[in-house]
Parts: sequence; C-alpha cells; structure tokens
Amino acid sequence: MADDLPDKAPPGIDPSTPTFARVYDYFLGGKDNFAADREVADMVLQLVPEAPVVAKGNRVAIERAVTYMAAELGIDQFVDIGSGLPTASNVHQFARAANPHARVVYVDNDPIVLAHGRALLTETGVATFIQGDLYEPEKIFTDPALTALLDLSRPVGIVLAAIIHHVPDDRDPAGVVRGLLPFLAPGSHVMLTHLHDSGNDPRVEEAKRILQAGLGGSCFRHSSEIERFMAGLTILEPGVAHVTEWRPDGPAGPLEHPLHTQMAAVMGRKE
Ligand SMILES: C[S@@+](CC[C@H](N)C(=O)[O-])C[C@H]1O[C@@H](n2cnc3c(N)ncnc32)[C@H](O)[C@@H]1O
Repeated sequence: MADDLPDKAPPGIDPSTPTFARVYDYFLGGKDNFAADREVADMVLQLVPEAPVVAKGNRVAIERAVTYMAAELGIDQFVDIGSGLPTASNVHQFARAANPHARVVYVDNDPIVLAHGRALLTETGVATFIQGDLYEPEKIFTDPALTALLDLSRPVGIVLAAIIHHVPDDRDPAGVVRGLLPFLAPGSHVMLTHLHDSGNDPRVEEAKRILQAGLGGSCFRHSSEIERFMAGLTILEPGVAHVTEWRPDGPAGPLEHPLHTQMAAVMGRKE
C-alpha cells in the first residue's frame, strides 16, 4: 500500500524507527509517515485489512465527546494530549463548530507531530501546539504557551484519545491519568479512548504481537481496567462503552462495523 509516498524526513526526525503517531497517520490515510512505519502497519493490515476502521471510529468518538463538552457542558477550552498528526478534522474544528470561542492546546511528544502540528494546528488565539510528555503533567500545565491561551481556574476538556493504551502496566496508567487531575478546575471533563480487548476477534492476539514488536507496545485492555483509569472522576453515562455505543446520537452517524468493538470510550467529570 502507498509505496509511492516520499520518504524525506524533516530535520531532527528519524524515519527508520516507527512511531505511534506515524503508524496511526498511515491507518487514517495520511502522508506523514515513512517506510518503517508502513512496514509495521502493513503487517497489521495483512492480518486485519479492516484495521483502519478502528482508527476512524476513534476519531468519531473524539468528535462526539468534544461536541458534547462544548455544546452541552459549555466547556470552551481543551487540552488534547497525544494529539497525533493533524488529520482532516481536529479537536479545535470540532469544538469551534459547537462554540466559535473555543480554544485548544495540542500536546504530543513526537517531534514530527510538533513539526506538522505547529504548521497546521496553530492559529493565534484559537489553537496552539506544545511538545510535551504525558508523564510530565506539571510541565504541560505550566507551559507558557498553554497558560497564555487557557484559564486553568475554569473547567477544561481533556482529550486522552488512543494514548493511554501506549502506557504499559508497569508505568501505572491509572496513576498517569490521576496525575493530571490536580491541574484541573472542578467541572473539568476527561474523555479517554482505549484499544479494547473485546475477546471476539481471534486476530487481535497476533495484531498485539505485531504492534508490540514494531512499536514497543499497544495494550488492549478490558473495560473494567479502563474504568479504573478514571478513578477520582465521576464517570458519565454510558460508562466505558464501545465507540458504537458511546453517545451514538452524536455527530458522524452510527458506527456499525464489528471491529469498532476494539475501541472503547469513556468520559468523567472532576467534582
Ligand atoms: C495513536 S495516536 C492518537 C492520536 C489522536 N489522539 C487520536 O486519537 O486520533 C497516539 C499519540 O500519542 C502520542 N504519545 C504517545 N505517548 C506519549 C506521551 N508519553 N506523551 C505525549 N504524547 C504521547 C503519540 O506520539 C501519538 O501521536
């Protein structure tokens, strides 16, 4: 697939080691990826040709969650941690469709996301991009670019989409999410999507092995484990659910493919 893509890496970027952001970009049909990324993705695609459905369902869940936060909860400021490479529609577009005053800070630790995000996701007074690490929340929430755009004394919407499944058990994913909470005002909401071990597709075991070997880890987890990551937050209805069942009346219509059960979504409120 797509052997004709250019492999010219921006300065400072190592094209030979696959990254989560670039493999995911390839699944979404993007062009900001290199041969090493496509090799891992193509191994998954050989096994599960419909795999991109999972990434697309994840984007729909983000749109629904951000629209709900902006339109129904009145949240007008967002931090998208592990934002990934810019895609067709991004969090600030979803948020501003519901509230034209919404502002968004994008955060990612992959330098290629910084390079493309700065170019495509930055708009003065609307959206900015910072290079930051989920494991260092204090640096994220005290970054001058973030505090210039957002007022952290007011509720914020946090987007943790398809990132916590890259946090292995020995790095304490529940603790990582909990570490964000002290920076959030009451009334803030956290949405999280996560690869889900639905147990209904035997190909998933092999896909896990490929992702583990190629990228050093993507953990499919059960919904009870994902729910534990929301400790300290009040979980909103319908709890942890497949993206098909998570606010299905939100934008982008129903999600019907059986593989959508491989991605779960959940949202919680800080009291
Ligand atoms: C699978 S992509 C998801 C992109 C987007 N959030 C979405 O759901 O469409 C995961 C992103 O998380 C980023 N990421 C992984 N670990 C991270 C960390 N410790 N700190 C910040 N970003 C991280 C990766 O660079 C990648 O861009």
